[in-house]
Amino acid sequence: MMQAVQNIEPLKQLPKVGFIGVGAIAEALITGMCAAGERRATFLLSPRNASISNGLAGRFPFIRVAADNQAVVDGSDILFIAVTPQIAADVLGALRFRPDQSVVSLIATYDMARVRGLVAPASTIARLAPVPAVARRLGPLIMYPAVPAVAGLLEGLGQLIQLPNEADLDALWTVTGLLAPYFGLLDETAAWLVRQNLDGAQARMFVAAIFEALSVTAAERSGEGFDKLREAHTTPGGLNEQSYRELKAAGWMSLFSRALDLIQARMQGRATLADRLP
Ligand SMILES: NC(=O)c1ccc[n+]([C@@H]2O[C@H](COP(=O)([O-])OP(=O)(O)OC[C@H]3O[C@@H](n4cnc5c(N)ncnc54)[C@H](OP(=O)(O)O)[C@@H]3O)[C@@H](O)[C@H]2O)c1
Repeated sequence: MMQAVQNIEPLKQLPKVGFIGVGAIAEALITGMCAAGERRATFLLSPRNASISNGLAGRFPFIRVAADNQAVVDGSDILFIAVTPQIAADVLGALRFRPDQSVVSLIATYDMARVRGLVAPASTIARLAPVPAVARRLGPLIMYPAVPAVAGLLEGLGQLIQLPNEADLDALWTVTGLLAPYFGLLDETAAWLVRQNLDGAQARMFVAAIFEALSVTAAERSGEGFDKLREAHTTPGGLNEQSYRELKAAGWMSLFSRALDLIQARMQGRATLADRLP
C-alpha cells in the first residue's frame, strides 16, 4: 500500500555568518543573536581569541570555529569584522574576499572608504556599532547604510538605528565613548559613600538603583528635552540646584562636550590616542 505523501515545508536556508576577531564586542553580539538558543544563522568564527571562540562553539551547536581567518571568509556570506583598529589593516589586507559577500565592519576608526578598499571586491559594506549590553538584547545598535540582510540578523537585539549618512553614524558612535566615563562616575560616587563608612556592596547597589531610575525616566521622557527633566529634578534652593550650579561653574558640563569633540576628531582621523582635550 502506498504511504500518503506529507507536505513537508522546505528547510529555510540560514545565512552563513562569519566573524573575524572574536573578542569582547563580538562575543556580546553573538551571545545576543543566539540568546535562548535562537538559530538565526550558522556562525563560523576565527580561531582568535581561542577561549571565547571555543566557548561560544561549545554553547551553541550551530557555531563552529574555523582553522584560520581565510577559512572564515571562504565559508561565509556575511562577514563581521571585529578586530582592533591597530591590526585591522594587516588582518584584512591578508584576506581574499568575493564580490557577492557582505562585510559589516565594527572597527570604530575606519571609515567606509577605508573598509571598502580593504575588503574589495566585496561590494556590500556596512559599519555597525553595538554596545556590550547587546549580549542581553539591550541598548542601541547604529548602522550605516541600511543593509536589509544585516538588519534582519540584528532584529530584536536592541534599538536598531539605521542611518542615512556616515557623518550621523560617526556622531552617534562618538557618544559610545562615554560608557567608561559613566561607570567612572558611578565608581567615584560609590567610593565617596564608602569613605563615609558605608558598606561597598550597599553603596554600589544604591548608586546603581538611582542611575537606573534616572535612565528609565530619561528614556520614557526624552521627548520633553533633558533640560526640562533637569529643571523637574531641581527644587529651588535644594540640593540638586546647588550641586548642578557648582559642577557647571567648575566646567564639568562643558568638559563632556570637549571630550566628545576629541573622540569625534579621532573617529574622523583628525586626532590620535595621544591627543588631549581641546
Ligand atoms: N568593545 C566595544 O564596546 C565596541 C563597540 C563597537 C565597536 N567596537 C570595535 O570592535 C573591534 C573589537 O573591539 P573589542 O573591544 O571586541 O576588542 P578585543 O576584545 O580586543 O577583540 C579583538 C579580538 O581580535 C582578536 N585578534 C587578534 N589578532 C587577530 C587576528 N590576526 N585575526 C583574528 N582575530 C584577531 C583578539 O584575539 P586575542 O585576544 O587572542 O588577541 C581579540 O579577541 C574594535 O575595532 C572596536 O573599535 C568595539
